[in-house]
Amino acid sequence: MSHIDPGGQIGQKTPMKLYIKTFGCQMNVHDTDRIKEIMGKAGYESTDDPSKADVALINSCTVREKAWHKAISEAGRLRSRRRRAHNANHAVIGVVGCVAQQEGDHIFELLPGVDLVVAPDHYHLLPELLFDLKKDGIPRAVIGFDKGEPEDFLNIQSIAEANPVSAFVTIMKGCRERCAYCIVPTVRGPERFRPSSDIVREVEMLVSKGVREVTLLGQKVNAYNHAEASFVELIRRVDSISGLERLRFTSPHPRHMTAELTESYGLIDTLCESIHLPLQAGSDLTLKRMGRRYTAAEYLDVVRRLRAAVSDIAISTDLIVGYPGETEEDFEQTLRMIDEVQFCGAFSFKYSPRPGTRAAAVDDDVTPQEKASRLARVHKKIEMLERGFRKTQVGKVLQVLVEGEGRMPGQLSGRARNGQIVNFTMTGELPLREKRGCLMDVEITRANPHSLEGRAQ
Ligand code: 5AD
Ligand code: SF4
Repeated sequence: MSHIDPGGQIGQKTPMKLYIKTFGCQMNVHDTDRIKEIMGKAGYESTDDPSKADVALINSCTVREKAWHKAISEAGRLRSRRRRAHNANHAVIGVVGCVAQQEGDHIFELLPGVDLVVAPDHYHLLPELLFDLKKDGIPRAVIGFDKGEPEDFLNIQSIAEANPVSAFVTIMKGCRERCAYCIVPTVRGPERFRPSSDIVREVEMLVSKGVREVTLLGQKVNAYNHAEASFVELIRRVDSISGLERLRFTSPHPRHMTAELTESYGLIDTLCESIHLPLQAGSDLTLKRMGRRYTAAEYLDVVRRLRAAVSDIAISTDLIVGYPGETEEDFEQTLRMIDEVQFCGAFSFKYSPRPGTRAAAVDDDVTPQEKASRLARVHKKIEMLERGFRKTQVGKVLQVLVEGEGRMPGQLSGRARNGQIVNFTMTGELPLREKRGCLMDVEITRANPHSLEGRAQ
């Protein structure tokens, strides 16, 4: 794309400003970084102030209805702000993310004022599309999936600028699991794996820029299977990168938690003692209707194997309540599973029908009131478990990867290997920039509602 001035900046003295509002999942948050990277290379600077933006993008997930509703409101706000602004003729409003793939050029009717719609496999085209749009003013939608292996992920410039201690690395695109409620296979396309050599190269570059912790990212991350390496081989290769201290992955599917993978927890040094393992529901009937392809007993067997490898591994989960056909008894089985596994945290959601999914074609017989009440009951239980888990950490010495300043003056903050945020004090006067990225042993002195507190040893 070097043949054009990608941002359409001919004659511009100041860099063009990019504003992105992100809604939804971790994958989307990571995609926003990639977009900033691509746009940065084309000369755009990021801004948090939409009124200063030359290009305002809404990056929305569509996995749950709520994110889409938030995106619609944001588009309305951007539109009315543009009407009032002095640069009304220049500011571009774009919709990107899964929602772009789902709705395509229908978005121009749904959200008048939007000029650009770009689905996740086409972000590398953004500068060129903006250039063309500025030339002819014709709105454009680019959707669909690329077919080959994902290649456009080696983006570390913004990482180097942001200087993070911890970074995400995408290892696959799409998902072919087809859970009955889930729109991801429709909007993110078929499963495609990055070659392990590319992934290793990206992690090596990140580590050379100061990253110490990497989270491998994929919709069904442990289904990774490339001709070059299986998932376990991949994590072994990443583990052996010198200078990398910690490795995590998200989100795995229970049915791909092989014995080799669960045993890895005791054997691979960098692999942290925490896992986010979506359960979704505790009733076998609901799991079957959801198309999850495991039973509650099989899930519990994975948990047993994980705990055999690492007795105090922190397990968190995703739960959907009020799925069509879920009875009070089915729901109570979810509550019983929560107790049995003793999750240390969970993201829980009311079921919402997503267009084109198998579940959306089924009559939803759970009332909105019942869904809300079940969600509240799950929240209450999970909150108690979260607090309980944090209390068990008091008195322990945890290894903390220092990320920045803590909540209170003089405190530092970071994460323990079990994923908990730890704010702590220390004696000695090292400046923060020398402590960032260091591993410190911290004695936990107190459990707060959302974090731990301690003292460096
Ligand atoms: N309704 C509610 N929650 C959903 N999720 C995915 N699809 C739906 C839906 N239609 C939740 C699942 C998944 C998480 C990313 O979002 O719990 O693990
Ligand atoms: Fe959706 Fe199921 Fe794939 Fe997860 S595994 S992204 S819930 S289809």
